[in-house]
Amino acid sequence: MRLSDKEYRELVSVASSARGGSYSPYSHFAVGAALLSCDGRIFTGCNVENSSYSATLCAERVAIFHAVAQGYRDFTAIAVVGGPSGKATEGECQPCAVCLQVMAEFCDADFEIITENGEGGYNVYRFADLLAKPFKF
Ligand code: THU
Repeated sequence: MRLSDKEYRELVSVASSARGGSYSPYSHFAVGAALLSCDGRIFTGCNVENSSYSATLCAERVAIFHAVAQGYRDFTAIAVVGGPSGKATEGECQPCAVCLQVMAEFCDADFEIITENGEGGYNVYRFADLLAKPFKF
């Protein structure tokens, strides 16, 4: 655990707010993400869907690309929240494998992924436990 309880809750709260920006008319599943840089900045993202489906970007990648485009490449943690659009989230939303592969580009094994636990709390995962062997060359 790299952050305090207050910091984990704050990151989940920022991800929940970012979820409000989700553009998800096809899946009706809204996701928000909040990415914490090593120097304490938070970058947000939400999923942005497209009628061609495969052009859709997940919330995590929007947050990461947002940060990288602004010159930030070192990160501590990301909070991810998701659930049916227009409703409060009820359980855990795990990052997809494509987003984990993108995290592998910028994050070390101890980078943390924070999800809601469905009981008003959160779960903390170590990156290397979710994607043990990312593609690298
Ligand atoms: N989605 C995310 O934003 N993050 C993930 O890690 C998994 C899925 C989005 C993509 C799509 O807009 C919707 O959730 C349903 O798959």
